[in-house]
Amino acid sequence: MESKINEILAKAQSALPMAQTKNEVAAIGASITGPNGELTALMKTIPTLDKAERPAAGKLINMAKSKIEPMIAEAYERIENRQMAEALGGAPDITLPNVDAPRGTLHPLTLTIRKICSIFKRIGYTVAEATDAETEWFCFDALNTPEDHPARDAQDTLFLPRQTRFSNVPKHADELYLLRSHTSSVQIRAMLREGAPIRILAPGRAFRRDTVDATHSANFHQIECLYVDRDVKLTDLKATLDYLFKNLFGKSARTRLRPSFFPFTEPSFEVDFMSDDLGKLSGKWIEIMGCGMVDPKVIENVGLNPGEYSGFAFGLGVERVAMLEHSIDDIRHFYANDLRFLRQFSNR
Ligand code: DAH
Repeated sequence: MESKINEILAKAQSALPMAQTKNEVAAIGASITGPNGELTALMKTIPTLDKAERPAAGKLINMAKSKIEPMIAEAYERIENRQMAEALGGAPDITLPNVDAPRGTLHPLTLTIRKICSIFKRIGYTVAEATDAETEWFCFDALNTPEDHPARDAQDTLFLPRQTRFSNVPKHADELYLLRSHTSSVQIRAMLREGAPIRILAPGRAFRRDTVDATHSANFHQIECLYVDRDVKLTDLKATLDYLFKNLFGKSARTRLRPSFFPFTEPSFEVDFMSDDLGKLSGKWIEIMGCGMVDPKVIENVGLNPGEYSGFAFGLGVERVAMLEHSIDDIRHFYANDLRFLRQFSNR
């Protein structure tokens, strides 16, 4: 019995590593452990042995089986790996990203920007973008805010050394570059490029000299809206604002305008809105942004005729909207990069 078992083991050891296909492995396996296999045949002889010899014989056969089975599995694996490598045209590329790796999530500010852009896409707006580094002319002068205008104080920002040049920013006059203090500058770039009629939304980063606290950040995001065409009226602005806030904060949302001042709009307004779906803030007027009818001087500055064209504009703080949407109490959460915070907003 023992020598027969050793013979079977030796056969498995020599034949299995030589097998080239799964069928060959299966055939070798069947010839040993299958119903008509040699080991099975030996097993069947056990009842014919002396009673005293039976346990030892059974043990030997089981031991052989427990050695042969992993050898069969190994042979299958060897062939499968080879077939896989062949299918991949060589060895697998272990530098490929792991398909099971956890995916990142979209930042809550990105989600809010996308939501607002998609609300406006439905009424024919396109998205316009420009660089964070902007020239003084686009950021202020063209927006009717000359150098000595007090409105510049509220929008103090980082000015770059005079010799700084950015290849991706078109040159204009004797340029002094700064980090744009608002996205209103994109109005100018878009109108110079596209003329009128124009309907754009310009989301992006803005920068200001500001002391950081729960509601202020020196670096924040805005969405600028601009609509210029023949015959655009204040009622168009009001209707667009109502449309925006109903889409953001529910059907009960409504807006009101309070007179204000911005150099680039005339008349200018602060927008307040109210919604019944805002938890503790329900039913209260909430100050949200500035808006107005584009100042004729701005229309003239981009080479359009203010007698022919009129328009409206507004500038919305993205952090402010996202904080209201999600009841976030501190603007600094957006910039702390704490994944426990960030993961709560995206369903990806
Ligand atoms: N640019 C202004 C700011 O950052 C916001 C703003 C107000 C934009 C009125 C506008 C507007 O387009 O019409 O404070």
